Amino acid sequence: MDRGEGLTIRVPGDKSITQRALILGALADGESRIGAVPRGGDPLATARAVAALGVEVRGLDGAGSEPVRIRGPGLRRWTQPAGALDLCNSGTGTRLLSGALAAQPLEVVLRGDASLSQRPMERIAAPLRRMGASVDYLERPGVLPMRIGGGALTSVRHDGEVASAQVKSAILLAGIGAGVPVEVREPHRSRDHSERMLEAMGAEVVEGWRGDAWSVRLADPPARLEPLDMDIPGDFSSATFFIAWAALATGQLPVTIRSVGLNPTRTGLLPVLARMGVDVEVLPRGAPGGEPAGDLRVAGQGAGLQAVEVGGDEVPGLIDEVPIVAVLAARADGVTRISGAAELRVKESDRLAALAVNLRRIGVAVEEFPDGLEIRGTGKPLSGRVECFHDHRIAMAFGVLGASPGCDLAIDDPGVADVSFPGFWELLARVERHSVAGAPHPGPTPAASPGAGRCIVVAVDGSAGSGKSTTAAAVARRLGFRHLDSGALYRAVTLALLESERGSEDVEDVTPAELDALRIGLEWHDGTMHVRIRGTLVPDEALRESRVTSEVSRVSAVPLVRDHLLELQRSAAAGPGLVAEGRDMGTVIFPSAEVKVHLDAEIRERARRRLLQRGRQPAPEEVDAEAARLERRDQRDSTRAIAPLSRAEGAVTVDTTELDPPGQTEVIVQLVLPFLTSVEYN
Ligand code: S3P
Repeated sequence: MDRGEGLTIRVPGDKSITQRALILGALADGESRIGAVPRGGDPLATARAVAALGVEVRGLDGAGSEPVRIRGPGLRRWTQPAGALDLCNSGTGTRLLSGALAAQPLEVVLRGDASLSQRPMERIAAPLRRMGASVDYLERPGVLPMRIGGGALTSVRHDGEVASAQVKSAILLAGIGAGVPVEVREPHRSRDHSERMLEAMGAEVVEGWRGDAWSVRLADPPARLEPLDMDIPGDFSSATFFIAWAALATGQLPVTIRSVGLNPTRTGLLPVLARMGVDVEVLPRGAPGGEPAGDLRVAGQGAGLQAVEVGGDEVPGLIDEVPIVAVLAARADGVTRISGAAELRVKESDRLAALAVNLRRIGVAVEEFPDGLEIRGTGKPLSGRVECFHDHRIAMAFGVLGASPGCDLAIDDPGVADVSFPGFWELLARVERHSVAGAPHPGPTPAASPGAGRCIVVAVDGSAGSGKSTTAAAVARRLGFRHLDSGALYRAVTLALLESERGSEDVEDVTPAELDALRIGLEWHDGTMHVRIRGTLVPDEALRESRVTSEVSRVSAVPLVRDHLLELQRSAAAGPGLVAEGRDMGTVIFPSAEVKVHLDAEIRERARRRLLQRGRQPAPEEVDAEAARLERRDQRDSTRAIAPLSRAEGAVTVDTTELDPPGQTEVIVQLVLPFLTSVEYN
């Protein structure tokens, strides 16, 4: 997240697409690469289930920057798991795996948590039985735990009463696995991620309206599936929480959500938002891996939210976003009517009931119908305790409402958000802090001209002697970006304090007023940073004076000093791009930087470089002694209480031991290039 022209954030990868990629990758012939896999509870549960079926899944333990690799054994090669597969809260994982399992000559028990064990399974069991699989419920009819006995299947044509992508996908997977043609007809068009992915893997899926039903046919299933090579786009459904936050909370900060999936079968909320008066700009960036993706930019809402009517054909395209519509409706002018949404009663909770109960509890007038809600918007203060009913979307929808002016809500079980959006509450807290810090609205939206207002941030950190200063400066020069040298900024504060009445005594007790009085400012000449103290430009030599060198680490460890420089550093993110160098760039200052790099090198090489920097060719024993010093420093740096040196989440580690400075620069430039082309909207 950064604030150049407003606020820029990213959301985790799409869980619908991820779970499909995991299951289809496990049916492919060969190794699939899936980048940007989100680590939410649902995808992890599905990945564990796939691994329990004997499929090799690698890379899930990492922080998320490494792609996940799945070695698909082929269509009917899964092996008997040791016990039941626990899908936790994942309805998508359960239903899609059931379809795939129907074609495997295995007997597998599926179970889940309390919420998943309430959800109807007969909708997939019935067509799978018609194809020849056995499906038995082990405790109560129609719900998990259930046992699937698979094997040879016959072809089926399924006429679904409701549009359900999970049912459709289960049947397609059974057909693919068993090598038999299948057709699914539904009254409305549901999300088509499975169809797109199957096409990308070499299967032909024919879709279109047949009479008044949407038909999806797999007429000639291939004998094998090609492995996948794709990156998961951000989850549109997760992004909508921050669209709602922007619409409810501020109206003053434009919010940009980067790299979000824009599959048209998922984005049905956008026209509804437009009718409500929320201005969302869609900036497409192509369709890598067959799934359209791009940025969403919310300029806030000026004239106030308007009530809407939502129903019929529109519902499948926003099925997971009804909680968002409901919380926006609570603050809209007039009565919002949602109909044709009976399916919401069988999601992670009975969402219609959960919305009605909670909205009423906090002071909103609601009427509940079998297939919808009527919500009367209000401007009065809303407060109370929200019950999540094990449902991530209920928790997050009320979370954003609670973060808006005039609301005081307590969410009873915030942890449920983790199934789709780990880190949701932290991100919400951060965006709130930004809006409170309150940059004035920068005026007319700069995105009117392509590329304007979009600053690509490259965060570079690394251990002492890893080469970060020279490299960061060179990368900035190569790309025409600004170079933020945070070390120089801390040196400037140190120098200013040394020259003030306080001197270097008791720097820990420095007050905000004293820091304000230093009037530290930044400016750039051809991308190079210069610091002003009390209006006067500081020469570089002054920053390198030995009295500054000996005090700077104490000064930079003072939390107030770090806080004081936070906004100043963030304000550096303007123009086409910024290379931000320093120990907390990727973790604190720019946690949503487009590219995060952590430079490292073997300790003796780092020692050698540091000695060389001091201007002499070191002898081997000097290198040893310096290496020992560096080791102690690393230890201190990584364990210090304030701004410890740690690898930022999502950072790419570059080992520079064998790289000369131009080589290091090149590696980072290559990491940035995809972002440079992707900002040219099509
Ligand atoms: C999903 C389909 C939808 C949706 C769910 C994910 C999917 O469910 O609500 O969150 O990944 O296929 P239905 O297929 O039951 O409508």
